Amino acid sequence: MKDKIPCHIGIIMDGNGRWATSRGYARSRGHKEGAEALKKIIKHANELHLPYLSVFAFSTENFKRDAKEVNYLMNLFVRLFKSELDFLIEDQVKVVFSGRREPLPKKVLDAMDIITKKTKDNRGMVLNVCLNYGGKTEIVDMVKRIAMDVENKKITIDQIDISLVDHAMYQDLPPLDLVIRTSGEYRISNFMLYQASYAEFYFSPKYFPDFTPRDLDIAIEDYGKRNRRFGGIKK
Ligand code: FPP
Repeated sequence: MKDKIPCHIGIIMDGNGRWATSRGYARSRGHKEGAEALKKIIKHANELHLPYLSVFAFSTENFKRDAKEVNYLMNLFVRLFKSELDFLIEDQVKVVFSGRREPLPKKVLDAMDIITKKTKDNRGMVLNVCLNYGGKTEIVDMVKRIAMDVENKKITIDQIDISLVDHAMYQDLPPLDLVIRTSGEYRISNFMLYQASYAEFYFSPKYFPDFTPRDLDIAIEDYGKRNRRFGGIKK
């Protein structure tokens, strides 16, 4: 495709549950199909040479769901990170995670560490998986990290600027250019609040399991038509 590729796309993969219940399936089936859709999106984004892709896999608030669904998702993550995403190694995708480790089960943390290690030297797209993630919590953790450095006299308060804050987030990532949310909901839901400061938003009515690489192309085409001013004046 000829369109200008953004540097960093974020996807709020919403609607797995509704995809399943609208077909009379258990919600878990929606997550399984969502994972299949995600594999295709990652492959395609990497082929487009997108530098950074962030995906919202599990919010801190998702722990409020019933234990059966949470367990299903945790086991799905283990399966994906341990083997099903092995194609990422060959495709040169580097996987990083954003979120708090506590209270994720050890089996999930181990699987996350495995895929991080297996892909750490890859030079292709960076895939940032937001897992047990909350945007406000990320800001709290960033503030704590910087306060600690001030307390330990590693930095002075005067040295705190945007670049220092950027580096104190969970991952050192460029700002989001485009945030895509599926399932016809128009909310940011605590997703990468700091990084989304000047992002363009694209909302798709499709439930995430139905979101295809072609839909990603359409979102990128739409992004290409936007006039981004970053608070300045149209040139
Ligand atoms: C939101 O749909 C989706 C999730 C909470 C899970 C997303 C997980 C995947 C797509 C699996 C693969 C992920 C990775 C990164 C390995 P929902 O359950 O809130 O849907 P609903 O709003 O229709 O109930």
